[in-house]
Amino acid sequence: MRKKLVAGNWKMHGSLAENAALLAALKPALAGIDAVVCVPFPYLAQAQAELAGSSIAWGAQNVSEQAKGAFTGEVSTSMLLDFGCKYVIVGHSERRSLYGETDQLVASKYVAAQAAGLTPILCVGESLEERESGVTEAVVARQLDAVIAAAGVNSLSKAVVAYEPVWAIGTGKTASPEQAQAVHAFIRGKISALDAGVAEQLVIQYGGSVKAANAAELMAQPDIDGGLIGGASLIASEFVAICRAAAK
Ligand code: 13P
Repeated sequence: MRKKLVAGNWKMHGSLAENAALLAALKPALAGIDAVVCVPFPYLAQAQAELAGSSIAWGAQNVSEQAKGAFTGEVSTSMLLDFGCKYVIVGHSERRSLYGETDQLVASKYVAAQAAGLTPILCVGESLEERESGVTEAVVARQLDAVIAAAGVNSLSKAVVAYEPVWAIGTGKTASPEQAQAVHAFIRGKISALDAGVAEQLVIQYGGSVKAANAAELMAQPDIDGGLIGGASLIASEFVAICRAAAK
């Protein structure tokens, strides 16, 4: 059986005091359940100090594709490793749409993360316009193909894929379990055509307005293996309930 994994993406939220309270609540409640929190860069040291030895791993929300050098404002994979990161989100839709990250740049970040021993959480997903014009599968396939071309299908055995329909992110409008399952099955089928073993083991998370109230029916879908959680990951009781629903 595939493992299930829920990751929180805090986005640009938090403070030292807020994070301390949130992590203190999560630690005992998630004891024995694998989970991840992806925090803003300045709080990686805090996550490391608070979470070391717990079942909660931590990671970043972005990383440079460059190893080092004159890249003002960028953060490298080795810097993430210095703070004990295990995961890094690459290709989040906000990075793609607000900061112009292309499929090729995202693939470079994915390659850099894996080369450093980090597990990339590769985000894919279509906009509302793309869904309405019937190109959801084509968009998701293109986003996956960029990574497969750069790193090979086998690389997915050391990655997590997160399907996040852009129209469901932060809108309160979640994909129905059937809509999400259909795209998850498409992703697994596409990879299975290249390597059935890799596809079978691949953790595919769903993200987009996941809450405690809708987590159970999403997580019950056969190809949904966890979630990438934005807003609800900032509320301890919500995030714990989602992690527990996935672990069932
Ligand atoms: P919300 O859960 O706030 O919709 O965000 C989803 C997301 O973008 C996680 O990466």
